[in-house]
Amino acid sequence: MDNQQQPLRLGLIGFGCVGQGFYDIIRQQPELGLTVARIAVKSPDKPRSLPAEHFTYHADELLNDLTLDVLVEVIDDAAEAFRLVSAALRQGRRVATANKAMLARHLPELVQLEQQHGGTLLYEAAVCGSIPVVRTLDAYFSHEPLRAVRGIFNGSSNYVLTRMSEEGSDYATALAEAQALGFAETDPTLDMGAFDPRSKAVILAAHAYGIFLNPDEVLNLGIEAVGAADIAHAAARGQKVKVVASVQRLPNGRVAALVTPQLLGPESPLFAVEHEFNGVVVEGEYAGPQFLAGRGAGGHPTGSAVLADVLALRRGLRYGYAKRTTAPAVQPAEELELDIYLRHADVGALREVLTWLELPATALRTDVHGVYATGAVPLLRLAQWRDELRANGVFVARRGEVRAGEAVAESRLAAGAVA
Ligand SMILES: NC(=O)c1ccc[n+]([C@@H]2O[C@H](COP(=O)([O-])OP(=O)(O)OC[C@H]3O[C@@H](n4cnc5c(N)ncnc54)[C@H](OP(=O)(O)O)[C@@H]3O)[C@@H](O)[C@H]2O)c1
Repeated sequence: MDNQQQPLRLGLIGFGCVGQGFYDIIRQQPELGLTVARIAVKSPDKPRSLPAEHFTYHADELLNDLTLDVLVEVIDDAAEAFRLVSAALRQGRRVATANKAMLARHLPELVQLEQQHGGTLLYEAAVCGSIPVVRTLDAYFSHEPLRAVRGIFNGSSNYVLTRMSEEGSDYATALAEAQALGFAETDPTLDMGAFDPRSKAVILAAHAYGIFLNPDEVLNLGIEAVGAADIAHAAARGQKVKVVASVQRLPNGRVAALVTPQLLGPESPLFAVEHEFNGVVVEGEYAGPQFLAGRGAGGHPTGSAVLADVLALRRGLRYGYAKRTTAPAVQPAEELELDIYLRHADVGALREVLTWLELPATALRTDVHGVYATGAVPLLRLAQWRDELRANGVFVARRGEVRAGEAVAESRLAAGAVA
């Protein structure tokens, strides 16, 4: 029997949305030769869809059971996931995980453990649910210089924005729906504050550019303050509000990464990505632009990506990280600027925000919905004020891609700064 048919005994850690979706998929395909031999969950008191004897409440029992060929980690606790996955890699085990928050924080250590102890870690399900983007970047584009990877990486916030623009739902109702449908993370701040797509951008940067970014150094602005006025403002211009993650190579060869709402027109393929769907545009130097779209969240789509990893582990696949570089992964934010749109229902508060961002009073504009502002702002300044913008309910969206700002460069020169 070649290793592609080798029956596998799986240890499943986590039996929530993704764990149950994965279990369901493999139960329907007995010909795959996969058996979920043990399942670990957290709470002994929860009603389950399987009899109690299937479960243990101590995930370490799965680590200690060396008859398990593959461990599948799909829990909602990033710190515990790191403890379990790193312990499994120290044992040289084969592991599939969907935990992007854990990966974004610990990828360099996990890759090192993999190499030291001969285990394997795959994590297609951690980025864009069912879309095979990690493997596409890692294997297919391993030697293609990439101009940019950008996309809608969060199904919950995209669902909320779609419901607000198509159905006219208010933010709170749309968010409650996303949670009820199982798209949202346990903590909605991760989705709506764009922390979750930031983790995914960090993971993709490792495969697209070979750099391990610190998530805290990647600007993320979310949609917690988005309102009907913003959706209508975009619609009046033939645009939509989308939360777009961008990882792009700059003319100086360095890489910029950020996740913010963006006002997008139909010229972008991301414009048509709705509800819980995700979309990724990969711009290759030679291949040109390519677009992948699919379900970005939910038990079955994410479970399908976990299954693809388990089968890939059986075939002996590992990520190559072919572009891995030792160059420092510095975010050169001070050289960069963004064209932004910002709105707050209180004009006085909006005026104060202009002073934070060093925008002139002439940045203020009016439309039928009230007062808003537009202007070019250094990325660094947005990053410095990110928490205040969130805390004060200011909605900020960019109106284009990051660029090396002439105004910024000129003001630095005028101030005598060394370029
Ligand atoms: N939901 C999605 O669409 C989606 C998409 C892509 C990636 N992900 C990622 O997949 C992972 C799981 O997400 P989910 O939506 O399936 O979460 P979930 O529905 O909240 O389920 C989490 C599961 O983990 C179990 N668990 C938590 N701590 C544990 C521990 N210490 N030991 C053993 N089991 C533990 C929970 O046990 P109890 O049942 O006892 O509470 C529950 O079964 C997360 O990392 C998430 O970011 C989710």
